[in-house]
Amino acid sequence: MIGLKAVALKTQKIETLVVPVCADKKIHDDRALNAVIQKALKLKEFKADKEDRVTLYDVKQLAAARVICVGLGKLKKIDLDVLRSFCGSAVDKCIQSGFETVWIAVPAAERLKMESPDVVEAMMEGACLGNHIFDKYKKEKKKKALKRINFWIKPPAAGKLGRIAPRVRTVCAGTTLAREWISTPSNEKRPERLTRAIVSQARKYGLKTRVLRARELKQQKFGAMLAVAAGSSSKPSLVILEHQPPGAKKSLALVGKGVTFDSGGLNIKTGNGMAAMKADMSGAAVVAATLITQARLRSKTHIIGAIPIVENMPSGEATRPGDIVRSYAGKTIEIGNTDAEGRLILIDAMSYVVKKYNPKIMIDLATLTGACVVALGEKIAGVFSTDDRLVEAIQASGDKTHERCWPMPLPEDYKELLKSDFADLNNMPSSRWGGAITAALFLSEFSGDTRWAHIDIAGPAYHKKGNAYCGPGGTGFGVRLLCDLIQRL
Ligand code: BES
Ligand code: ZN
Ligand code: ZN
Repeated sequence: MIGLKAVALKTQKIETLVVPVCADKKIHDDRALNAVIQKALKLKEFKADKEDRVTLYDVKQLAAARVICVGLGKLKKIDLDVLRSFCGSAVDKCIQSGFETVWIAVPAAERLKMESPDVVEAMMEGACLGNHIFDKYKKEKKKKALKRINFWIKPPAAGKLGRIAPRVRTVCAGTTLAREWISTPSNEKRPERLTRAIVSQARKYGLKTRVLRARELKQQKFGAMLAVAAGSSSKPSLVILEHQPPGAKKSLALVGKGVTFDSGGLNIKTGNGMAAMKADMSGAAVVAATLITQARLRSKTHIIGAIPIVENMPSGEATRPGDIVRSYAGKTIEIGNTDAEGRLILIDAMSYVVKKYNPKIMIDLATLTGACVVALGEKIAGVFSTDDRLVEAIQASGDKTHERCWPMPLPEDYKELLKSDFADLNNMPSSRWGGAITAALFLSEFSGDTRWAHIDIAGPAYHKKGNAYCGPGGTGFGVRLLCDLIQRL
């Protein structure tokens, strides 16, 4: 639980107070606090460089039993994500020390040349996300999440910031829900089971749910999606979630790739390419978690979530390279490669959304291509759209939340690479170069006239190692970004 508190540090009985310290400028306004910081800076071992830390006990200026000073580095380099990361690692260190409660001092926003709601929000996010532990499959739970994280702020500043903590709590709960789904191993989330898990969470928070199961998918001719599911003994589904507040006008559709495991199918993946493919449903997890979060926040926007869920496996029933299928939209597709399955399930879901809901805006999220990871690395997603305003909004939300997105092109002439000799399109481009672009171009053929953007999250969806405010595994990348974006639309 996180909360904001404006109390007198001189008298407030506190066990542990963590204080961020800047290496070259004063960033706090409290006199007693600054006196303690001066004391720490006199020690040889503490220069307030990034990640420097020193613990002072029983300082006379404050009532706290223990004051942990943590360096942030130079002022010029301090941005919102430095603050987020500082709080994430502070919480992690406190967890490792076995503490139950911690207080964290919030610097004076003006001294950082930032807005105080942004500072408080980022710090709370880092702490909240850093306090999440995924140890469901460990018998011995070594780490225990903190019970309470208090943010100390200088007394007159607190009031107007009161609404931030509840929102951050809800948005971070959405992020950690997505993280848990993504980190769950594929044997524990085969399509039928993941479908149930998503639907039951969605119902709990009052979303309208609808599931198209294998029989309906066949009746309604979701040929591309069914081709991907053919090799698995677990049946596919298309989950539709809807948040429809009374009187809402704006409608946003979110589509998320839900491949619970991507073996590649008959074009089977080799070596360690397959190991992280439990995360190939990250788009689905993020879309479901975002809808749940928006329902909990009582968002005024009408939001539709479309989540195609399949497992991509080789078997005697599996789709073969060279097979031709008919997509929901009617276009035929030659399956040049069974490992390019994401685009197949996405186009059927997108076509369905456009036909049934005709939303104002449609955004899909998918761990779509290794090529996008080659282009932008593991921390930045690629965003593809012909709508510049939409790209700008997505990029702005990405910068604010540090779920960064970079615009990528959709060149008309590259569409040539998707031609098939026998069908309307080939899911396998004829050139190996520009794979993230050709995948996005393939999707673009099915967006109709809808304002649409595609976000390739193959890099940032999953981290083998983790960082200051995310453990190893699923990151939930996209939930905070989308929640911010919905406020901007
Ligand atoms: N799920 C993968 C993409 C991926 C790769 C995600 C690495 C995360 C990390 C996707 O289904 C895939 O296999 N794409 C192929 C496409 C190719 C066959 C045209 C790829 O990227 O190699
Ligand atoms: Zn694949
Ligand atoms: Zn895939």
